[in-house]
Amino acid sequence: MRRPYIAANWKMMKNLAETEEFINSFIPLVAGISDVDILIAPPFTSLSIASHLLLPTNIKLGAQNMHYEENGAYTGEISADMLLFAGCSTVIIGHSERRQYFNETDEIVNKKIKTAKKKGLEVILCVGESLEERESGRTFGVLDKQLAGSLKDISMDGVTVAYEPIWAIGTGRTATPEIANETHGYIREWLNKNKGNAGSVRIQYGGSVKPENISELMAQSEIDGALVGGASLKPESFANIIKGAKK
Ligand code: PGA
Repeated sequence: MRRPYIAANWKMMKNLAETEEFINSFIPLVAGISDVDILIAPPFTSLSIASHLLLPTNIKLGAQNMHYEENGAYTGEISADMLLFAGCSTVIIGHSERRQYFNETDEIVNKKIKTAKKKGLEVILCVGESLEERESGRTFGVLDKQLAGSLKDISMDGVTVAYEPIWAIGTGRTATPEIANETHGYIREWLNKNKGNAGSVRIQYGGSVKPENISELMAQSEIDGALVGGASLKPESFANIIKGAKK
């Protein structure tokens, strides 16, 4: 049985004060929930305050990115050790916005996952196709390539996969639960074939998840959680997604 796993990806939103305000309102809203794994990934500048505020809870802290080198002259970059020291347990790697705007290739994603795992960070690996790729029937081919490249020589312990169709991110256009489930099933099959038994690997869905659609997404056999952007920015909305995520 895979435990539901709901993660907030705040992207480039919320400063320190806003992070503090969110977390202080959010903690009581989810206080009684122990059967869902919850993660918040704020911007780097909010990690320390978030870590401090989340310490008495079982809410996990994540980062949205990291560099694959362990240290060195890489102006503006953040290392895995820095994330661990700031209180992160987890890092999101290969989000489509990073692939699209910052030229992250599967090869770079692969190096980042290797370093993250070596240092003891858990990983949420994002994969997903564009609208054009889906409409031209290339979804599974694109996923094959992303999974093979990103996960080359990597075992699946400590790795969660987030399937995020790019056409559903921030657009209000969610993949139907059936389409999402079919694609999750494909990813699990790929993992089974290429990584051994993938029965325990969690696969999150991402793309316009909100309180109104979480239950029907979670009702699908292959959907184990969600990576939530826009709807994770308000405490009530994110808490309602978590409450709706029980299997
Ligand atoms: P969204 O973003 O929920 O705003 O669509 C999801 C994501 O990009 O992780």
